[in-house]
Amino acid sequence: MKTKNLWSLLGACAALANAQLVTPAVLTSDGGPDWTDANGLARTPPMGWSSWNQFGDQINEQLIRETIDALESTGLRDAGYRFVNLDDGWQAHRGKRSNHPLEYDSVKFPNGIKAVVDYAHSKGFKMGIYSGPGEKTCAGYTGSIDHEQEDAEMFASWGIDHLKYDACCSHQNASIPAVQKVFRTMSEALLNSSRPIVYHTCHCGWADIWQWAASVGANHWRIGQDIPDDFNYPGNREKYYFDVLDMIDRGNELTAYSAPGHFNDFDMLIVGLNGKSQELVGTGCSNVEYRTHFSLWSILSSPLLIGADVRNLDSDSLKTLLNKDVIALNQDVAGNQAALVQDVGNVQVYAKELNDSSWGIALLNRGSETADITFSPRRDLIITWDRYFLRDLWKSEGNESDFTLYNIPFTTEVMPHEAKVYRISQPPEDVSPPDIE
Ligand SMILES: *[C@@H]1O[C@H](CO)[C@@H](O)[C@H](O)[C@H]1NC(C)=O
Ligand SMILES: *[C@@H]1O[C@H](CO)[C@@H](O)[C@H](O)[C@H]1NC(C)=O
Ligand SMILES: *[C@@H]1O[C@H](CO)[C@@H](O)[C@H](O)[C@H]1NC(C)=O
Ligand SMILES: *[C@@H]1O[C@H](CO)[C@@H](O)[C@H](O)[C@H]1NC(C)=O
Repeated sequence: MKTKNLWSLLGACAALANAQLVTPAVLTSDGGPDWTDANGLARTPPMGWSSWNQFGDQINEQLIRETIDALESTGLRDAGYRFVNLDDGWQAHRGKRSNHPLEYDSVKFPNGIKAVVDYAHSKGFKMGIYSGPGEKTCAGYTGSIDHEQEDAEMFASWGIDHLKYDACCSHQNASIPAVQKVFRTMSEALLNSSRPIVYHTCHCGWADIWQWAASVGANHWRIGQDIPDDFNYPGNREKYYFDVLDMIDRGNELTAYSAPGHFNDFDMLIVGLNGKSQELVGTGCSNVEYRTHFSLWSILSSPLLIGADVRNLDSDSLKTLLNKDVIALNQDVAGNQAALVQDVGNVQVYAKELNDSSWGIALLNRGSETADITFSPRRDLIITWDRYFLRDLWKSEGNESDFTLYNIPFTTEVMPHEAKVYRISQPPEDVSPPDIE
């Protein structure tokens, strides 16, 4: 049985949080100052909605207003989903920036972007926008090259709160210093604008971005390419797509880069797309698979950006997205990313230490047969407690008192593609043994 030493991972993580990041050699490679947490934002992973996964560039003012209303009426806003992010496609012009200014599309947004931002703000939301460091963005619209300060000031004047800055298509083959440079330039422009704007640097997980993105001021950075709407996509990842399991694997070595203010980004959520995306390949997931995807993104401290049409969410998906106990694992202020602590065949266990010294764990069955998974806190977490409270966050959502007291490892049955998620905490001294199972 392969059990990794979680202490060494978490030790590294805590040291990083204190020392403000990575190794100096990596930091100085672009010659700039260390802007880790310079904007002071995103103390926990950003939560909200993004237009791309469902709609691609087919966005407009009415859709965004209806989305804002739906996020409010479904309870998603109050569960924490605050960012409403326009992805590619809000711009007026296609083609090179050297031939066109950056302006909003006045057919899609007849009242301008600021009117939509004001509407979002009036309902307690924050608003995000998209650009990139090339002549063109991924969908072929004008980019921000050589106009970074001007664009940052325009976004700030509209009241924008989040920028996704996407280098995937313009800088696919660029050297690491070249990619660092373009991300740093926009970062500086945003800092100069003096409006607090969360900064998302998107580079498909290339150029070892996790090693240096925080140091150029990024709050989150994609660690892979787009996920399909599929748990285990038959297409190959060399071509482009990383499915849910690929993304989880990819994050395994990256726990040290997650901390308040800067997070690994596992991509926007596919929960609720149900094969209806206008953009993504894949035929959809079962409810269990969407729940597993959401559970893992949560415990891995990824941003939680809903990608589905929230005006028409099915009730199972809505229930998944609203699980406040699972969300609490994601929004924990310590900012740790769960580490892989058990990895045997199709069974994996992920564990995350939380701010109050309790733990979140996810027992994942990647296979197609039901599996019994045994978890031992003393072995898998290397804690010294004799007894522990265990609460199943899907079964007992919202009921803080629905826990069991254990003093031994426990074994549970996990369905194919299911993840069971628990919170484990140390009972007070005076809890007496009779409850122990
Ligand atoms: C990067 O290189 C690959 C392989 O040579 C090529 O197919 C692709 O078009 C290049 N991308 C860009 C943006 O130049
Ligand atoms: C930010 O402001 C400084 C000081 O005015 C200036 O030197 C720098 O060029 C600005 N950055 C960008 C990206 O325009
Ligand atoms: C928990 O959060 C508080 C307040 O943010 C902080 O002072 C404390 O250091 C945190 N503890 C851990 C273990 O992260
Ligand atoms: C919460 O859990 C406790 C303990 O299992 C149970 O007695 C109680 O009925 C539950 N409350 C609700 C509202 O389900």
